[in-house]
Amino acid sequence: MRKPRLLLIDDDENTVNGLKNILSRDEYDTSCAFTGHDALKKIERIHFDIVITDMKLPDIGGFTIIEEIKRKDANTAVVMITAYSSIQTAIDAMKKGADHYLTKPINIDELELVLNRIWEKQLLILQNKELRQKLDEKYNFHGLIGDTPEMQQIFKTISEIAPTTATVLIYGATGTGKELIANAIHYNSDRKDSPFVALHCASLSEGVLESELFGHEKGAFTGAISQRRGRFELANRGSLFLDEIGEMNSHVQIKLLRVLETGSFERVGGEKSLNTDVRIIAATNKDLEKEVEEGRFRDDLFYRLNVINLLIPPLRERRDDIPLLADCFLVKYAQKNNKKIKGFSSQTMRLLNSYDWPGNVRELENIIERAVVMTRKDLIEPDSLPSKINLSIKKANRDVFSIPFGTTLKDAERKIITETLQAMNGSKSKAAKILGISTRKIEYKHKEWSTT
Ligand SMILES: Nc1ncnc2c1ncn2[C@@H]1O[C@H](COP(=O)(O)OP(=O)(O)OP(=O)(O)O)[C@@H](O)[C@H]1O
Ligand SMILES: [Mg+2]
Repeated sequence: MRKPRLLLIDDDENTVNGLKNILSRDEYDTSCAFTGHDALKKIERIHFDIVITDMKLPDIGGFTIIEEIKRKDANTAVVMITAYSSIQTAIDAMKKGADHYLTKPINIDELELVLNRIWEKQLLILQNKELRQKLDEKYNFHGLIGDTPEMQQIFKTISEIAPTTATVLIYGATGTGKELIANAIHYNSDRKDSPFVALHCASLSEGVLESELFGHEKGAFTGAISQRRGRFELANRGSLFLDEIGEMNSHVQIKLLRVLETGSFERVGGEKSLNTDVRIIAATNKDLEKEVEEGRFRDDLFYRLNVINLLIPPLRERRDDIPLLADCFLVKYAQKNNKKIKGFSSQTMRLLNSYDWPGNVRELENIIERAVVMTRKDLIEPDSLPSKINLSIKKANRDVFSIPFGTTLKDAERKIITETLQAMNGSKSKAAKILGISTRKIEYKHKEWSTT
């Protein structure tokens, strides 16, 4: 992070030079001005984060200086200094936009404290600004956020496969962003101007699922009072997202396989074959290969669907995304709830980084929304997080790993790597250093685990 830029304005050269020496030592990048005109010229040319100005200058009044500084950039903080203590002058200066008010002789400790506080606040504003820019650029891929190699690889794959018509099978635990990814595939394809239609296969009974997918003719079954088009017709030329496909019963599986193979189907109760041009994106949080092995899912359908597969790792296996996602949700919900929240306290961030996130990104998003709504402070402190998250730090802080007798070397390795990562708040580089291996090795191990 860069040094804060500071401008000192006072006609007393001794005061200015004395302060400059002290503040430069404190890592401030300090400039000086001895008259109001000189100061205004500098302000026009250079952006200062903080201006410390004497109230009484030989040429220009202190209030005018404040106004000019704030006109140039409202984020520049102004600290007023005056030779005598006058409540009225302080009130007037604050009204003009000054952020702080100190009296001469200057107490250096007090000044340093004030400057530190201002800079801390400004850093958060700067970080938020940078974050928003970053979100607009690199990290935001059609609403999908992620900067870890795992997520960047997924974004790359999406860009490559989206323009094709290949069927995609998305694997991932609950809340990992499967639906968002299906959306990104559709909106990155030539089909983006045609419908994206989604259907949740798990929540529907066998008959309803069939009629939802393929539609029905009038009188096809009790209650079919009129003809109805199914999702395959509605999604024509577009994409059909079949969520929880592992829950689909065998009768519907056969019908789906036929559409995939021939592009045609009949409405329930109908005889006429209808043609459709639909790209299928399916998602599951089940191990479909196991479902096939155990006879619950047709192998021919599985191979048809599994042309391209995307594996979305759980959040705990890409912890470096936690701070980025958390910041992004904070900005989103602070805006939505009209709250001015600057960020997370470092303890809160530690907790977020060490928690296991069984509900993945959805859980993180819900917890941040709740914290934003609950907090009365301008920083999110641990007391705004649910207790289960507060408890997780104990786990992260322990420094002995217990590996039960009988553990295989492979499992022990996984445990050591995972727990060291957790203790290091998910930082792969720090964990790698402690373990004496490269970060690439950790990444490689993650890949290995996600495929076994
Ligand atoms: N990478 C991400 N960036 C931003 N938001 C995300 C990301 N992943 C998930 N989300 C958010 O998390 C929530 C859950 O995402 P989504 O519904 O896509 O998950 P899912 O995998 O389909 O979950 P489920 O299996 O429970 O249906 C949504 O609000 C989504 O916007
Ligand atoms: Mg979903």
